[in-house]
Amino acid sequence: MMSDQRKPSIVGISGNIKRPSKTRVLIETVLGRIHETYGIEGAPYDLLDAPELGAVWDLSNIKGRLADLIAAIENADVLVIGSPVYKGSYTGLFKHLFDLVGYDRLAGTPVILTATGGGERHALVVEHQLRPLFGFFAAHTMGTAIYVSDADFADGQVTSQAALKRVDCAVAELRPWLGEAHLASSRPATAGS
Ligand SMILES: Cc1cc2nc3c(=O)[nH]c(=O)nc-3n(C[C@H](O)[C@H](O)[C@H](O)COP(=O)(O)O)c2cc1C
Repeated sequence: MMSDQRKPSIVGISGNIKRPSKTRVLIETVLGRIHETYGIEGAPYDLLDAPELGAVWDLSNIKGRLADLIAAIENADVLVIGSPVYKGSYTGLFKHLFDLVGYDRLAGTPVILTATGGGERHALVVEHQLRPLFGFFAAHTMGTAIYVSDADFADGQVTSQAALKRVDCAVAELRPWLGEAHLASSRPATAGS
């Protein structure tokens, strides 16, 4: 829960392993709508931002950009996460990243769940794979999850009105954490207190 005057940290994590990436575009689309709705900018990352991923053997000694990425996830006030569907689930490297996140560091964190896939067959990956993973962390996943397939993209953008409507629904569900009333009521009564 946000309880000070600093700007909430909104972090997007995309499980793509190559660029350009539809999943990253989807994450950026959600972050853009959060910015338009609440006036708060988010920071998008993908797995290429942490080249150390996949070569970590000593969990007590994680360094470099991967350490920064894990810190950004663990300290986020809001997470927007997504993965391409690979073989009916999130990518292996996406799971590897979250294997490195402290088991108790996302408790109560509001999370928007997203995924992209080639077709509609694996649309329930958001419910059957992603939601249980964030359930493990006791995170607060938004009820509306967003799955977008290849047919919902054109010219590198999400163009499906149905998909964009789901984005708006999920973003609206963040209101208890990011809405004006909450932000105003969470400000300290006196400066410096
Ligand atoms: C190795 C591999 C496995 C895939 N498996 C599935 C799958 O099981 N179901 C599906 O709908 N799409 C599957 N796809 C398609 C991708 O999920 C889809 O193209 C996705 O939008 C790519 O996201 P990206 O551009 O962020 O990498 C697979 C693609 C690859 C490369």
